[in-house]
Amino acid sequence: MKKHKRIKLGMVGGGHGSFIGIAHRIAAYMTEDYELTGGAFSSDFSGAKDFARGLQLDDKRVYEDVPALIQGESALPLEERMEAVVIVTPNYLHYDAAKALIESGFHVISDKPITISHAEALYLQSMVKKHSVVFCVTHTYTGYPMVRQMKAMIASGVIGEIQKVDAQYYQGWINPVVHSAETRKGIWRLDPEKAGISSCMGDIGVHAFNMIEYTTGLEVKKVLADLHTLYPDNPLDIDGTVLLRLDNDVRGIVRASQVATGEENNLTIAVYGRKGGFRWEQENPNYLYHLKEGEPMQVLKPANPYNSGFSQEATKIAPGHPEGIFDAMGNIYKGAARAIRGEQVAEGAYPDIRDGVRGMNFIEKAVESSKAGNQWLEF
Ligand SMILES: NC(=O)c1ccc[n+]([C@@H]2O[C@H](COP(=O)([O-])OP(=O)(O)OC[C@H]3O[C@@H](n4cnc5c(N)ncnc54)[C@H](O)[C@@H]3O)[C@@H](O)[C@H]2O)c1
Repeated sequence: MKKHKRIKLGMVGGGHGSFIGIAHRIAAYMTEDYELTGGAFSSDFSGAKDFARGLQLDDKRVYEDVPALIQGESALPLEERMEAVVIVTPNYLHYDAAKALIESGFHVISDKPITISHAEALYLQSMVKKHSVVFCVTHTYTGYPMVRQMKAMIASGVIGEIQKVDAQYYQGWINPVVHSAETRKGIWRLDPEKAGISSCMGDIGVHAFNMIEYTTGLEVKKVLADLHTLYPDNPLDIDGTVLLRLDNDVRGIVRASQVATGEENNLTIAVYGRKGGFRWEQENPNYLYHLKEGEPMQVLKPANPYNSGFSQEATKIAPGHPEGIFDAMGNIYKGAARAIRGEQVAEGAYPDIRDGVRGMNFIEKAVESSKAGNQWLEF
């Protein structure tokens, strides 16, 4: 096996109390491609230092903010310097951090949504090109082996011409806090200054949208959205349905909700073609259901030799040993590591800046369509 030097990785956000930071750290170490060397983990500098000590990081590599990180790292010899930085802060901080890092030549791994406007996302795209850096957006679910298998089988024509797509992402976590204006105030995802123009579509609808384009290879061309805030003084959507028109006049739907009471992370994608269909459910990610007309449904599972090479590469252990969300994130980190090293990267190995831009376009168009009284809007 070819031995690589680990990629020195920094982290912005993801510190104490962060929800998704741990998944990024585990993912970074999963394939032995990265080494976390420091970061700007929090808006509270002394808390960030405490947190970093817990990870046994060198105090000197813990920074107050992104400008200090860029300055400190740029002063180090090349072989010691961070090469890539992951951004896992609330949404409104993504753009400034990514822009400054890209302009200083760092590769960026950003959580979604990559910005809070489509215009900002397009600008980042131009900067990524200009500075020739890798930009990975962590649409985590694209890293699951059975999602990769679904993508590969659809591409090889197993279900024939696609005629319907349906992606749902239902959660219920906002229900206990949304019914009181007082409790709503404490949630950054419901604050337009921190979350951007959308809560539900920006946080989870965008994953469903991305899964549709990722698994089918089709592009969404038009959307018509019906979003709901539940209360007039709640500024952001917490539920919504978006009708889609895709390439080849394929019809589809994104259904997302944060008030689907009792639901946890029920992301389900179904794609139906002339010859059959596929269904995959995130809460049970090691089963891919292959639906066939007039025949019993077939269930495919990871790590088996009947899967594509692309899917098999996304498992690390023998069939029957369940892998989950950390592994899925790890596969995305692995794809990004290859790109950072300038190696050949399979299509779909990691979501890139194009996925980030399209996701931001989806969020913006969905909000605009709903506000305009449920109009069809071109992408
Ligand atoms: N890919 C996924 O599946 C997934 C899942 C959850 C969240 N996310 C995304 O990850 C991002 C973070 O979400 P979360 O749920 O972890 O949020 P969170 O509120 O749990 O954590 C945010 C972290 O950012 C830190 N932070 C806040 N302000 C900062 C600043 N000025 N400088 C440095 N750090 C700062 C906080 O201290 C905290 O550690 C969001 O953009 C969200 O959309 C993605």
